[in-house]
Amino acid sequence: MPRPKGKVAYVCGDCGNESPKWGGRCISCGEWNTLTEFQLDGRNGRNMRPAGAPANMAQSLSIVSTERLPRLRVRSDEVNRVLGGGLVPGSLTLLAGEPGIGKSTLLLRIAADASLSNGKTLYVSGEESAAQVKMRADRLGISGEDVYLLPATRLDDVLCNLEEHSPAVAVIDSIQTVYDEDVASDAGSLAQIKECTRRLIEWAKLHDTSMILSGHVTKGGDIAGPRVLEHMVDVVLYMEGDPISSWRLLRTVKNRFGSTNEVGIFEMTEKGLADVTDPSRAFLSERWNGAIGSVVVSTLEGSRPLLVEVQALTSPSALPTPRRVATGLDFNRLLLICAVLTRRTGLSLSNQDIVVNVTGGLRVGEPAADLGVALAIASSCHNVPVDAGVAVIGEVGLTGEVRSVPQIDRRVSEVSRLGLNRCIVPGVVGRGLAHYEGMETVSVRSVAEAVNACIPRGHRLRSHAGAPTH
Ligand code: TYD
Ligand code: MG
Repeated sequence: MPRPKGKVAYVCGDCGNESPKWGGRCISCGEWNTLTEFQLDGRNGRNMRPAGAPANMAQSLSIVSTERLPRLRVRSDEVNRVLGGGLVPGSLTLLAGEPGIGKSTLLLRIAADASLSNGKTLYVSGEESAAQVKMRADRLGISGEDVYLLPATRLDDVLCNLEEHSPAVAVIDSIQTVYDEDVASDAGSLAQIKECTRRLIEWAKLHDTSMILSGHVTKGGDIAGPRVLEHMVDVVLYMEGDPISSWRLLRTVKNRFGSTNEVGIFEMTEKGLADVTDPSRAFLSERWNGAIGSVVVSTLEGSRPLLVEVQALTSPSALPTPRRVATGLDFNRLLLICAVLTRRTGLSLSNQDIVVNVTGGLRVGEPAADLGVALAIASSCHNVPVDAGVAVIGEVGLTGEVRSVPQIDRRVSEVSRLGLNRCIVPGVVGRGLAHYEGMETVSVRSVAEAVNACIPRGHRLRSHAGAPTH
């Protein structure tokens, strides 16, 4: 039933629940201060169903057609990978990321690639002028005959151009800049984002256009605007990376048409984002033999094994409470590893500042990197390098035990593929592993065993060794 004209509802920015009354707390999800006033549909009758129009009828599941239009593939295999094989016609994809991370660069590339194989694409830029986008296109080497550029923020202009060009792919950069004149709030507000996205979805589904929206993220890393935006779209991709490094990761956070375990890896070059086809090799390219405090760790990004370098530096502290700095890994995990090294291997760290870094601006969130971090710290503390041909896998427990990690075979096979000759693995899984030509797998049950295997006692310098290892 159409709602009365001018009626308002209060929508929770977190869960999207609508309630007729304002309250300090959402009655559905219990979050505080998330309700925002929202003008209900039907002010101009646009969203009302005409009297007597046939309702959408349910049909038997057994006769539902599964015939689908083929996915639109773009030239970048990394983009196709995170999308689960390409863009699905009629789908909405949200690309979120911090300002300056490279969203517009990637979107222009996708628009241009899609136009080469799939016909017209529309690129709506709400943040930059046509000249600015053209300058970027020149930089990326895009001529863009079939890319139609629209610098606009009014939703009606966008919809008019969609009608006019009927593009196979449309990019809206960004959803926070688009506004619907019938909604009485500023662009970027909850009400605007919700209504504009709803109307864009409606259009996309009706015309089988694949739409990609870019979205800002807040300081906390959430997508700016309502959480409900993530619920509305089909695919949510996050672009991340340290702005000062050139690596960029594109993660699938939600995908109604594929796996969410996918990660695309890119390098930002002067000609835009380039696919990184062999990321492990790229991440280890600057590593040198004999580096003290450097250890190769075999980690998983989504379903993809990745070798990364963990570096640690310990130095005598001038402070009463020595500093611990973790870049690219969880700080509490570092504290845990330091405590285990002290108690279970006798390493004296209480007067040492410890800095640990994952190179390339990458973030390793999984405990499988624990043992590598422990060995990097031990290597720096003993002033002895861990051999460059060694890779390390394992979670560290509080009793000093090395615990197994998921998908160990994939990780070990990546170590072998990269030509490393020794892989330190958790004792419990060691025997079940396949044999890899030219690579020895060393099973360790404890951190102390791993330290002994990688940093032989005879090589340690007394002044750096702290208490003896048990
Ligand atoms: P941009 O795509 O504008 O980021 P976003 O849309 O996420 O805000 O990317 C801006 C950054 O990318 C900027 O710092 C410059 C850099 N960049 C390159 O290094 N090479 C390039 O070819 C392009 C187009 C941008
Ligand atoms: Mg941008």
